Amino acid sequence: MNRLSDFMLPPANSTFAAETDALFNFINVVSLILLIGITVTMIYFAIKYRRKSEDDTTPLITHNSKLEITWSVIPLILVMIVFGWGYNGYLTKTNAPDNAYEIRAIAKSWLWEFHYQTGHVSVNELHVPANRPVKMIISSDDVLHSFYIPEFRVKMDAVPNRYTSVWFEAIEPGEAILYCAEYCGSAHSNMLADVVIHSQEDFETWLETGDAIDDDLSPVELGEQLVQRQGCLACHSTDGSTLQGPTFQGIFGRDRLLTDGSTVTVDENYIRQSIIEPNTQVAEGFAPIMPTYAGSLNDRQIDAIIEYLKTLD
Ligand code: CUA
Repeated sequence: MNRLSDFMLPPANSTFAAETDALFNFINVVSLILLIGITVTMIYFAIKYRRKSEDDTTPLITHNSKLEITWSVIPLILVMIVFGWGYNGYLTKTNAPDNAYEIRAIAKSWLWEFHYQTGHVSVNELHVPANRPVKMIISSDDVLHSFYIPEFRVKMDAVPNRYTSVWFEAIEPGEAILYCAEYCGSAHSNMLADVVIHSQEDFETWLETGDAIDDDLSPVELGEQLVQRQGCLACHSTDGSTLQGPTFQGIFGRDRLLTDGSTVTVDENYIRQSIIEPNTQVAEGFAPIMPTYAGSLNDRQIDAIIEYLKTLD
Protein backbone atom coordinates (compact mmCIF):
# COMPACT_ATOMS: atom_id res chain seq x y z
CA MET A 1 0.00 0.00 0.00
CA ASN A 2 2.87 2.37 0.73
CA ARG A 3 4.27 2.00 -2.75
CA LEU A 4 0.84 2.62 -4.22
CA SER A 5 0.61 5.84 -2.17
CA ASP A 6 4.01 7.03 -3.37
CA PHE A 7 2.90 6.51 -6.93
CA MET A 8 -0.62 7.95 -6.69
CA LEU A 9 -0.32 10.69 -4.08
CA PRO A 10 1.86 13.64 -3.12
CA PRO A 11 4.38 13.14 -0.27
CA ALA A 12 2.65 12.72 3.07
CA ASN A 13 3.62 14.79 6.10
CA SER A 14 0.90 14.80 8.72
CA THR A 15 -0.29 12.45 11.42
CA PHE A 16 -3.50 11.49 9.64
CA ALA A 17 -2.08 11.31 6.13
CA ALA A 18 -1.42 7.56 6.40
CA GLU A 19 -5.02 6.76 7.31
CA THR A 20 -6.41 9.07 4.62
CA ASP A 21 -4.19 7.41 2.03
CA ALA A 22 -5.09 3.91 3.21
CA LEU A 23 -8.79 4.64 2.73
CA PHE A 24 -8.13 6.27 -0.64
CA ASN A 25 -6.15 3.22 -1.75
CA PHE A 26 -8.81 0.82 -0.41
CA ILE A 27 -11.54 2.56 -2.45
CA ASN A 28 -9.31 2.61 -5.52
CA VAL A 29 -8.28 -1.04 -5.29
CA VAL A 30 -11.84 -2.27 -4.58
CA SER A 31 -13.16 -0.19 -7.50
CA LEU A 32 -10.46 -1.57 -9.77
CA ILE A 33 -11.20 -5.19 -8.80
CA LEU A 34 -14.94 -4.65 -9.36
CA LEU A 35 -14.35 -2.87 -12.68
CA ILE A 36 -12.18 -5.68 -14.01
CA GLY A 37 -14.43 -8.44 -12.57
CA ILE A 38 -17.64 -6.97 -13.99
CA THR A 39 -16.15 -6.15 -17.39
CA VAL A 40 -14.56 -9.59 -17.84
CA THR A 41 -17.80 -11.34 -16.76
CA MET A 42 -19.86 -9.21 -19.17
CA ILE A 43 -17.60 -9.98 -22.10
CA TYR A 44 -17.49 -13.69 -21.20
CA PHE A 45 -21.30 -13.91 -20.93
CA ALA A 46 -21.82 -11.95 -24.13
CA ILE A 47 -19.73 -14.48 -26.00
CA LYS A 48 -20.95 -17.60 -24.21
CA TYR A 49 -24.67 -16.79 -24.39
CA ARG A 50 -24.71 -15.14 -27.82
CA ARG A 51 -27.41 -16.09 -30.29
CA LYS A 52 -26.05 -19.08 -32.11
CA SER A 53 -28.89 -20.00 -34.48
CA GLU A 54 -32.11 -18.48 -35.89
CA ASP A 55 -34.42 -20.33 -33.50
CA ASP A 56 -32.40 -19.72 -30.32
CA THR A 57 -34.87 -18.56 -27.65
CA THR A 58 -34.11 -17.37 -24.12
CA PRO A 59 -35.93 -19.25 -21.36
CA LEU A 60 -38.11 -17.11 -19.04
CA ILE A 61 -36.18 -16.36 -15.83
CA THR A 62 -38.18 -14.43 -13.21
CA HIS A 63 -35.55 -14.11 -10.48
CA ASN A 64 -32.74 -15.78 -8.56
CA SER A 65 -32.92 -14.95 -4.83
CA LYS A 66 -29.53 -16.34 -3.90
CA LEU A 67 -27.77 -14.33 -6.61
CA GLU A 68 -29.72 -11.15 -5.87
CA ILE A 69 -28.95 -11.29 -2.14
CA THR A 70 -25.27 -11.89 -2.90
CA TRP A 71 -24.94 -8.92 -5.21
CA SER A 72 -26.75 -6.70 -2.72
CA VAL A 73 -25.01 -7.76 0.47
CA ILE A 74 -21.40 -7.66 -0.80
CA PRO A 75 -21.62 -4.04 -2.03
CA LEU A 76 -23.49 -3.09 1.16
CA ILE A 77 -20.64 -4.45 3.27
CA LEU A 78 -18.06 -2.63 1.12
CA VAL A 79 -19.99 0.65 1.33
CA MET A 80 -20.40 0.31 5.11
CA ILE A 81 -16.66 -0.28 5.50
CA VAL A 82 -15.95 2.88 3.51
CA PHE A 83 -18.58 4.80 5.50
CA GLY A 84 -17.31 3.69 8.91
CA TRP A 85 -13.69 4.29 7.96
CA GLY A 86 -14.49 7.68 6.44
CA TYR A 87 -16.68 8.76 9.37
CA ASN A 88 -13.94 7.84 11.80
CA GLY A 89 -11.48 9.97 9.81
CA TYR A 90 -14.01 12.79 9.60
CA LEU A 91 -14.37 12.84 13.39
CA THR A 92 -10.60 12.94 13.82
CA LYS A 93 -10.23 15.75 11.33
CA THR A 94 -13.05 17.92 12.66
CA ASN A 95 -12.06 17.80 16.34
CA ALA A 96 -8.81 19.62 16.96
CA PRO A 97 -6.93 18.62 20.13
CA ASP A 98 -7.18 21.14 22.99
CA ASN A 99 -3.47 21.92 22.93
CA ALA A 100 -3.53 22.93 19.24
CA TYR A 101 -1.72 26.12 18.26
CA GLU A 102 -4.29 28.41 16.62
CA ILE A 103 -3.54 30.40 13.49
CA ARG A 104 -6.02 32.66 11.69
CA ALA A 105 -6.02 32.38 7.92
CA ILE A 106 -7.72 35.03 5.82
CA ALA A 107 -8.16 34.42 2.11
CA LYS A 108 -8.33 37.44 -0.17
CA SER A 109 -8.35 37.63 -3.94
CA TRP A 110 -5.56 36.58 -4.44
CA LEU A 111 -3.43 36.01 -1.41
CA TRP A 112 -3.35 34.29 1.97
CA GLU A 113 -2.85 36.25 5.18
CA PHE A 114 -1.94 34.55 8.46
CA HIS A 115 -2.26 35.96 11.98
CA TYR A 116 -0.42 34.27 14.83
CA GLN A 117 -1.11 34.39 18.57
CA THR A 118 1.83 36.73 19.08
CA GLY A 119 0.27 39.34 16.80
CA HIS A 120 2.61 38.40 14.00
CA VAL A 121 1.21 38.62 10.48
CA SER A 122 2.59 36.86 7.43
CA VAL A 123 1.35 36.93 3.85
CA ASN A 124 1.62 33.98 1.49
CA GLU A 125 3.88 32.23 3.99
CA LEU A 126 2.40 29.94 6.58
CA HIS A 127 4.78 29.07 9.41
CA VAL A 128 3.87 26.04 11.51
CA PRO A 129 5.62 23.88 14.09
CA ALA A 130 6.16 20.16 13.47
CA ASN A 131 4.95 17.62 16.02
CA ARG A 132 2.35 19.93 17.43
CA PRO A 133 -1.30 20.12 16.40
CA VAL A 134 -2.10 23.34 14.54
CA LYS A 135 -5.66 24.56 14.21
CA MET A 136 -6.40 26.91 11.32
CA ILE A 137 -9.37 29.24 11.69
CA ILE A 138 -10.22 30.24 8.17
CA SER A 139 -12.36 32.91 6.56
CA SER A 140 -12.50 34.90 3.36
CA ASP A 141 -12.60 38.63 2.77
CA ASP A 142 -14.39 38.40 -0.56
CA VAL A 143 -15.38 35.27 -2.49
CA LEU A 144 -15.12 31.53 -1.84
CA HIS A 145 -11.57 30.21 -1.65
CA SER A 146 -10.31 26.89 -0.34
CA PHE A 147 -7.41 26.13 1.98
CA TYR A 148 -5.65 23.09 0.56
CA ILE A 149 -2.34 21.54 1.65
CA PRO A 150 -1.99 18.22 -0.17
CA GLU A 151 0.99 17.07 1.93
CA PHE A 152 -1.10 17.36 5.10
CA ARG A 153 -4.19 15.88 3.38
CA VAL A 154 -6.34 18.81 4.48
CA LYS A 155 -8.75 20.94 2.51
CA MET A 156 -11.32 23.40 3.82
CA ASP A 157 -13.40 26.10 2.17
CA ALA A 158 -12.74 29.72 3.08
CA VAL A 159 -16.14 31.36 3.23
CA PRO A 160 -16.99 35.08 3.48
CA ASN A 161 -18.68 36.11 6.77
CA ARG A 162 -18.13 32.76 8.37
CA TYR A 163 -15.33 30.86 10.12
CA THR A 164 -14.35 27.36 9.14
CA SER A 165 -11.55 25.39 10.71
CA VAL A 166 -9.22 22.55 10.04
CA TRP A 167 -6.31 21.09 11.97
CA PHE A 168 -3.23 19.05 11.24
CA GLU A 169 -0.01 17.93 12.85
CA ALA A 170 3.05 17.91 10.61
CA ILE A 171 5.54 15.13 11.27
CA GLU A 172 8.77 16.42 9.73
CA PRO A 173 10.18 19.94 9.43
CA GLY A 174 10.36 20.98 5.79
CA GLU A 175 8.31 22.79 3.19
CA ALA A 176 4.99 22.34 1.46
CA ILE A 177 2.65 24.37 -0.70
CA LEU A 178 -0.74 25.74 0.21
CA TYR A 179 -3.07 25.92 -2.79
CA CYS A 180 -6.35 27.69 -3.27
CA ALA A 181 -8.66 24.88 -4.35
CA GLU A 182 -11.77 26.84 -5.23
CA TYR A 183 -11.96 28.70 -8.51
CA CYS A 184 -11.99 32.32 -7.37
CA GLY A 185 -11.23 34.47 -10.39
CA SER A 186 -8.56 35.22 -12.91
CA ALA A 187 -5.54 34.88 -10.58
CA HIS A 188 -6.84 31.76 -8.81
CA SER A 189 -3.89 29.71 -10.04
CA ASN A 190 -1.44 32.24 -8.57
CA MET A 191 -3.06 32.06 -5.13
CA LEU A 192 -0.34 29.98 -3.50
CA ALA A 193 1.43 30.18 -0.18
CA ASP A 194 4.61 28.53 1.03
CA VAL A 195 4.19 26.38 4.09
CA VAL A 196 7.30 26.41 6.27
CA ILE A 197 7.33 23.61 8.81
CA HIS A 198 9.74 24.43 11.63
CA SER A 199 10.97 22.31 14.48
CA GLN A 200 9.23 23.47 17.69
CA GLU A 201 12.29 25.44 18.75
CA ASP A 202 12.71 27.15 15.37
CA PHE A 203 9.04 28.01 15.36
CA GLU A 204 9.32 29.85 18.69
CA THR A 205 12.39 31.66 17.35
CA TRP A 206 10.54 32.60 14.17
CA LEU A 207 7.62 34.00 16.16
CA GLU A 208 10.01 36.17 18.14
CA THR A 209 12.32 37.29 15.38
CA GLY A 210 10.44 36.55 12.18
CA ASP A 211 10.76 40.03 10.75
CA ALA A 212 14.14 40.81 12.27
CA ILE A 213 16.02 39.25 9.34
CA ASP A 214 14.66 42.15 7.29
CA ASP A 215 16.49 44.69 9.47
CA ASP A 216 19.74 44.24 7.60
CA LEU A 217 18.26 44.88 4.18
CA SER A 218 18.37 48.15 2.29
CA PRO A 219 14.95 49.61 1.48
CA VAL A 220 15.19 48.54 -2.18
CA GLU A 221 16.18 44.96 -1.26
CA LEU A 222 13.45 44.77 1.36
CA GLY A 223 10.92 46.17 -1.12
CA GLU A 224 11.84 43.57 -3.71
CA GLN A 225 11.43 40.78 -1.16
CA LEU A 226 8.13 42.13 0.08
CA VAL A 227 6.70 42.41 -3.42
CA GLN A 228 7.51 38.72 -3.90
CA ARG A 229 6.41 37.57 -0.46
CA GLN A 230 3.24 39.60 -0.11
CA GLY A 231 1.54 38.23 -3.18
CA CYS A 232 1.80 41.44 -5.25
CA LEU A 233 3.23 39.53 -8.20
CA ALA A 234 0.08 37.43 -8.55
CA CYS A 235 -1.49 40.48 -10.21
CA HIS A 236 1.34 42.93 -11.01
CA SER A 237 4.19 42.07 -13.36
CA THR A 238 7.63 43.70 -13.27
CA ASP A 239 8.32 43.19 -16.99
CA GLY A 240 5.64 45.39 -18.55
CA SER A 241 3.05 42.67 -19.19
CA THR A 242 -0.49 43.33 -18.02
CA LEU A 243 -2.05 40.91 -15.52
CA GLN A 244 -5.04 41.66 -13.27
CA GLY A 245 -3.37 44.90 -12.19
CA PRO A 246 -1.09 47.46 -13.85
CA THR A 247 2.54 46.42 -14.33
CA PHE A 248 5.13 47.75 -11.89
CA GLN A 249 7.60 48.41 -14.68
CA GLY A 250 8.12 52.12 -15.12
CA ILE A 251 5.14 52.86 -12.87
CA PHE A 252 6.78 55.52 -10.73
CA GLY A 253 6.38 59.07 -11.94
CA ARG A 254 3.94 58.12 -14.69
CA ASP A 255 0.64 59.94 -15.19
CA ARG A 256 -2.25 57.60 -14.74
CA LEU A 257 -5.86 57.87 -15.84
CA LEU A 258 -8.26 56.65 -13.16
CA THR A 259 -11.67 55.02 -13.54
CA ASP A 260 -13.36 58.22 -12.31
CA GLY A 261 -11.89 60.11 -15.27
CA SER A 262 -9.28 62.06 -13.28
CA THR A 263 -5.54 61.77 -13.79
CA VAL A 264 -2.93 61.36 -11.06
CA THR A 265 0.83 61.15 -11.03
CA VAL A 266 2.08 57.92 -9.53
CA ASP A 267 4.12 59.23 -6.62
CA GLU A 268 4.80 58.15 -3.04
CA ASN A 269 1.33 59.18 -1.89
CA TYR A 270 -0.48 57.42 -4.70
CA ILE A 271 1.39 54.16 -4.06
CA ARG A 272 0.85 54.37 -0.31
CA GLN A 273 -2.85 55.04 -0.84
CA SER A 274 -3.05 52.15 -3.30
CA ILE A 275 -1.60 49.77 -0.73
CA ILE A 276 -3.75 50.92 2.20
CA GLU A 277 -7.02 51.76 0.41
CA PRO A 278 -6.53 50.18 -3.01
CA ASN A 279 -9.97 50.76 -4.39
CA THR A 280 -10.20 54.51 -3.87
CA GLN A 281 -8.00 55.27 -6.89
CA VAL A 282 -8.32 52.54 -9.47
CA ALA A 283 -6.42 52.80 -12.74
CA GLU A 284 -8.60 52.99 -15.87
CA GLY A 285 -9.02 49.59 -17.50
CA PHE A 286 -8.71 47.62 -14.26
CA ALA A 287 -11.29 46.22 -11.84
CA PRO A 288 -11.43 47.39 -8.20
CA ILE A 289 -10.38 44.03 -6.78
CA MET A 290 -7.14 44.60 -4.89
CA PRO A 291 -7.28 43.62 -1.20
CA THR A 292 -6.13 46.16 1.39
CA TYR A 293 -2.77 45.75 3.08
CA ALA A 294 -3.76 48.01 5.99
CA GLY A 295 -2.57 46.26 9.14
CA SER A 296 -0.37 43.75 7.37
CA LEU A 297 2.36 46.15 6.16
CA ASN A 298 4.01 48.68 8.45
CA ASP A 299 5.36 52.09 7.40
CA ARG A 300 8.91 50.84 6.91
CA GLN A 301 7.67 48.08 4.64
CA ILE A 302 5.49 50.44 2.59
CA ASP A 303 8.43 52.83 2.23
CA ALA A 304 10.60 49.94 1.06
CA ILE A 305 8.08 48.91 -1.59
CA ILE A 306 7.92 52.51 -2.86
CA GLU A 307 11.74 52.63 -3.06
CA TYR A 308 11.78 49.34 -4.96
CA LEU A 309 9.12 50.47 -7.45
CA LYS A 310 11.23 53.54 -8.19
CA THR A 311 14.00 51.27 -9.45
CA LEU A 312 11.81 49.46 -12.00
CA ASP A 313 12.37 51.54 -15.12
CU1 CUA B 1 -8.67 31.72 -4.13
CU2 CUA B 1 -8.90 30.16 -5.94
